[in-house]
Amino acid sequence: MPKIAIVEGDGIGHEVIPVARKVLELIHPDYEYYNVDVGYHRWEEIGCPCADRDIAVLKEADAILFGAVTTPPMKNYQSVILRIRKELDLYANLRPVKANGFDIMIVRENTEGLYSGIEEIGPDRATTLRVVTRKGTERIARLAIQLAKARKSLTVGHKANVLKSDVFFRDICLAEAKAAGIICNEKFIDALALDILQHPESYDVVVTTNIFGDILSDVASYLVGGLGLLPSENIGDRFALFEPVHGSAPDIAGKNIANPIAAIRSAAMLLSYLGDVVGAERIEHAIQQVVTKGVKTRDLGGTAGTREFGAAVANAINLTKG
Ligand code: NAD
Ligand code: IPM
Ligand code: MN
Repeated sequence: MPKIAIVEGDGIGHEVIPVARKVLELIHPDYEYYNVDVGYHRWEEIGCPCADRDIAVLKEADAILFGAVTTPPMKNYQSVILRIRKELDLYANLRPVKANGFDIMIVRENTEGLYSGIEEIGPDRATTLRVVTRKGTERIARLAIQLAKARKSLTVGHKANVLKSDVFFRDICLAEAKAAGIICNEKFIDALALDILQHPESYDVVVTTNIFGDILSDVASYLVGGLGLLPSENIGDRFALFEPVHGSAPDIAGKNIANPIAAIRSAAMLLSYLGDVVGAERIEHAIQQVVTKGVKTRDLGGTAGTREFGAAVANAINLTKG
């Protein structure tokens, strides 16, 4: 049976992940679940946010359900989620944004670009090296092309008018698309960020570099009602991690008001990845049913708490049993 690692992380991760886990356990009591405790709170407690042993234990899972971790803007702090993405070589971050009238899949390169980690801060100057490799670009382009083949179109978002590293990224994406026999549109990322809000129906698969994909997905969450709704999948050739697009939201943590939909949808993506597409559909259907009945968290204009919303979704899933 599949082994699922559960990482709550920090902040609202402690509220939304228990809800998503409950949903998974309802549909798959047969899976094996185990907790892995990493995050900024571990750094505060013991000076180590994520140990080598934690990485090893995460690698034992068939899939990881991850909440969010706090990554403070400090000189000497290494983000736990970035470390995990790199160590597990989760090179693709798939961030679906869909509602009536549009179905967008943001494909974010997840291990290089401005997140190379090659940087230094001096007294008068700080630098970060933007690394775009052929290997890194070919594999993300191929994955985006594979997705686009089963869908409608492919767009590469870049800033090749300014960044030579993006001329490189864009050219490889276009060449890979040509070799695969599909059309690849291109757009400057700044213009794309506005256009995706004005004409979301014009977009399908959007492939882009690390930081642009990060920003674009937060921007695009506006189309569906905010960050509380967007799930994501981090995949590589061997491992897979599923997490909301949002962070640890310290401003609302501990208040039972966070929207758990992004986390629950991440659990649904995890099920699809493990081959249970029907289970994933049951989850999405239950979310729709509950929201349609008017049970919503505060960010969507409702009054339901995180736990109450979770209980309503669990109830809807139970009703569809058998
Ligand atoms: P954030 O995504 O945590 O929050 C941005 C805004 O959206 C906040 O006002 C928050 O209350 C709201 N929000 C987020 N999720 C919500 C939900 N489920 N329901 C309702 N409202 C929600 O981003 P931030 O405030 O810029 O970052 C907070 C911390 O999280 C930082 O330390 C950041 O580095 C970290 N972060 C981690 C991840 C991750 O672990 N993958 C992702 C993003 C940010
Ligand atoms: C995300 C977050 C992370 C990122 C941060 C917290 C390191 O913003 O998962 O979207 O930049 O990837
Ligand atoms: Mn982000």
